[in-house]
Amino acid sequence: MRHSSLVVVANRLPIDDSIAPDGACEWRRTPGGLVSALHPLLRHTPATWVGWAGGTGPAPTLPDVDGVHMRAVPLTAEDLRDHYEGFANSTLWPLYHDAVEQPEHHRRWWEAYQRVNRRFAEAAAEVAEPGAVVWVQDYHLHLLPGLLRAMRPDLRIGFFLHVPFPPPELFMQLPRRAELLRGMLGADLIGFQRVQAAHNFAQLVAKVLSLPATDRRIGVDGRVVRIGAFPVSIDTAEMAALAARPDVAARAQRLRQDLGRPERVILSVDRMDYTKGIEQRLKAYSELLASGHVKVRDTVLVQVAVPSRERVGQYQILRERVEREVGRINGEFGRVGEPAIHYLTQPFDRAELAALYRVADVMAVTPLRDGMNLVAKEYVAARVDDTGALLLSEFAGTAAELSQAYLVNPHDLEGLKEGLLAALHAAPADVSRRMRAMRAHLHEHDIRAWARSYLSALDETGPLVRRLVSGTDAASITVPGQPDRSATRVEHPSGG
Ligand code: ADP
Ligand code: G6P
Repeated sequence: MRHSSLVVVANRLPIDDSIAPDGACEWRRTPGGLVSALHPLLRHTPATWVGWAGGTGPAPTLPDVDGVHMRAVPLTAEDLRDHYEGFANSTLWPLYHDAVEQPEHHRRWWEAYQRVNRRFAEAAAEVAEPGAVVWVQDYHLHLLPGLLRAMRPDLRIGFFLHVPFPPPELFMQLPRRAELLRGMLGADLIGFQRVQAAHNFAQLVAKVLSLPATDRRIGVDGRVVRIGAFPVSIDTAEMAALAARPDVAARAQRLRQDLGRPERVILSVDRMDYTKGIEQRLKAYSELLASGHVKVRDTVLVQVAVPSRERVGQYQILRERVEREVGRINGEFGRVGEPAIHYLTQPFDRAELAALYRVADVMAVTPLRDGMNLVAKEYVAARVDDTGALLLSEFAGTAAELSQAYLVNPHDLEGLKEGLLAALHAAPADVSRRMRAMRAHLHEHDIRAWARSYLSALDETGPLVRRLVSGTDAASITVPGQPDRSATRVEHPSGG
């Protein structure tokens, strides 16, 4: 068995066992923010990624992906239903996203959550070499840091939450709230996307567990657990290079032709999720078509919505509603050969996504709540000529960083329509000024900067950071919101 000094544990592996049309099993990168962030980062690093390969039954033996060792954890059909679809995606996911859909609570789901967290912890303990760093990701695995610390006190354990962490009044609804908080406190460092999330966590720990807590440090069992905000990002340079490739530019041109050479292309790219505000966006678009502010002749909307968590009832209902609405809008406003909305549910490779970003004059990213939303960052990175308007929800984590976007409240239908019109009709000079500022920000705050700031705070002696972020001088590592300081001397990781 291979042992690693860096072990990433996430519910998902960056590959999925899909069945090809000819019945063969093929591996592909899975859509979703967590994989998009970590995959380019870990590539060519001697790390092990512990996770689920999709499907049920015995865990497959997987090939290394770009030098990263894949360790699959098996899920039974019952685990899939009660852990992944149940506790993770029907209790925690809706609760953490402002309860925009009703969270469900079932005792059976909690049992599965504990069982699966233990199985992941055992797999991580098996592959971690003595003194290794184990970096646990996301809401599927809240109990894992605590379980792993009990099994392997020699490890350095980090936890990062990719989704929002809710305000106390929502989190308090959880029947097993104390156990979840305790599980997370098994980590040495707990990272959130936003300062507010770290604050919510500290308040909850003080209230529910009566532990001494500030927004930066928590005392538990004689240890100090540090908490902070580390906004995740993308491989900015890689997306920019991809978008600048001649074949991608040519593909973007062809796409515009295929779309009927409209004056304006609006693009949205989402997982089919009720947090993404797809229905609100369609309603706003439909009203603009009805009032004549937008005309099918010169403007098209391309909506990419890749299906997600397809067996969960709330996701099935959403898909039906979205598809009915797209059909209605196209029926009412489209013309022969000129649909109002081009609706696509397929997963695309990175080059095709980059071409879509390049062809979009306006990118509409309007979630009701989103931990970060990497699609918005990908769009900015792909606009290599500083054109393109980003319409962005105030409730996406990205909004805290990309404040030069055209910001909207997606719950405010009139505001959403005005924002979309403003983005469509903005003066080119204004668009470029905003895009330049956002691109400059992402250039500096890319996925490597994120990993550096998090891992240097976790692994204070620094060798891991140097190895992971090639060509980096660990001595120059900075933590967001903090004055420059050496990786070995980071005291307070919080951005707040
Ligand atoms: P979430 O994490 O909720 O899925 P993000 O916007 O943070 O949302 O991340 C979504 C990721 O999935 C992005 O990297 C995006 O490029 C990728 N993605 C979204 N739709 C597709 C698709 N149709 N094909 C391939 N990748 C996709
Ligand atoms: C979000 C979550 C990830 C998850 C991804 C895709 O980004 O934070 O943990 O992997 O969505 O969802 P899925 O359920 O397909 O893994």
